[in-house]
Amino acid sequence: MTVPATMRAAFIRATGGVERIEVGQLPTPVPGPTDVLVRVELSSVNHVDLFVRSGAYCTPTPFPFVIGRDLVGTVAAAGPGVAGLAPGDRVWCNSLGHGGRQGAFAEYAVVSAERLYPLPAGVAAEAAAPVLHGAATAHVGLFREARLAPGETVFVGGAAGAVGSAVVQLAAAAGAQVVATASRRDVQWCTESGAAAVIPYDAADFDEQLRAGAPGGFDVWWDNSGHHDFERTLPLLRQGGRVVLMAGLGAAPVLPVGALYVRDLSLRGFAISNASVSDLAAAATVINSGLASGRLRVRVRATYPLTDAAKAHAALESGSVRGRILVRPS
Ligand SMILES: NC(=O)c1ccc[n+]([C@@H]2O[C@H](COP(=O)([O-])OP(=O)(O)OC[C@H]3O[C@@H](n4cnc5c(N)ncnc54)[C@H](OP(=O)(O)O)[C@@H]3O)[C@@H](O)[C@H]2O)c1
Repeated sequence: MTVPATMRAAFIRATGGVERIEVGQLPTPVPGPTDVLVRVELSSVNHVDLFVRSGAYCTPTPFPFVIGRDLVGTVAAAGPGVAGLAPGDRVWCNSLGHGGRQGAFAEYAVVSAERLYPLPAGVAAEAAAPVLHGAATAHVGLFREARLAPGETVFVGGAAGAVGSAVVQLAAAAGAQVVATASRRDVQWCTESGAAAVIPYDAADFDEQLRAGAPGGFDVWWDNSGHHDFERTLPLLRQGGRVVLMAGLGAAPVLPVGALYVRDLSLRGFAISNASVSDLAAAATVINSGLASGRLRVRVRATYPLTDAAKAHAALESGSVRGRILVRPS
């Protein structure tokens, strides 16, 4: 594969609003001995991309900084220390654009081999790209943090989005009983994702349905909305229950300490950005199996060309978009 000296990329020279996003030519990055140069086919926009671009989430961003975290693409070249990957192999990554690593919104990206995984045969980039971030988040939260076990009962609040869908799908596949909440129009989607019960937000008997969904209490409580009402929700957990905290950057809820410790409850906060390469690799194995079987799915709203990277960010930032937004660099 002939690699050009320069490539088109979406990048920033300073953190800030979407107007900081430029699209232009940058030198094509050169892989180090244990790196892979990937020709990027498809990327996606995640909420964290907005936080990194705006500066709300502090992380090193060497300028010009290519934005974007996830990619699906094809190996263009591999360093001499890379085993098992060759030009033409289809691959994916979900940990670029953070911690000083350049991002994915470009025709080419350099990825450390330990952060790159094979795309299962027959899986389209359009099926993989939208699930990579949410599914890794769901895996780390459910299994590393909440230590979900088969037969346990999981509450998933706001279950219709990218992370919510993956939490439902992975928890159900692991043999858990999932009780989800969603808009009425998303009940069927959540049921198809594997929820045993889906409670519409506007259900008149919402609280009764919640208690009926877990008569013995919930083992795991996961809310994607960023709203936390511990006074109301902690009593709904079983002794030893775990609350996963992963959204709500500015939330400052009241914490009834006694309700927490006297029943061995715990709060488990995490950010996928801090996941180790072994966390990510463990998630990748499960993600690849879910992609190959078609069990891991997320709805896609729109695909933008790289030239419209700022529009893609603005669309997610507007808060009115439902469904993942993809960006196609080539
Ligand atoms: N801590 C971490 O590591 C981590 C990782 C990833 C994400 N997050 C955070 O988690 C939150 C959720 O992220 P996300 O990627 O799942 O966001 P998302 O896909 O935009 O979903 C957010 C919410 O939007 C609604 N929604 C979005 N797409 C929909 C669709 N196609 N159909 C129906 N409803 C849809 C759902 O809420 P409604 O039912 O109310 O409409 C959903 O809960 C964000 O705050 C994000 O910053 C944290």
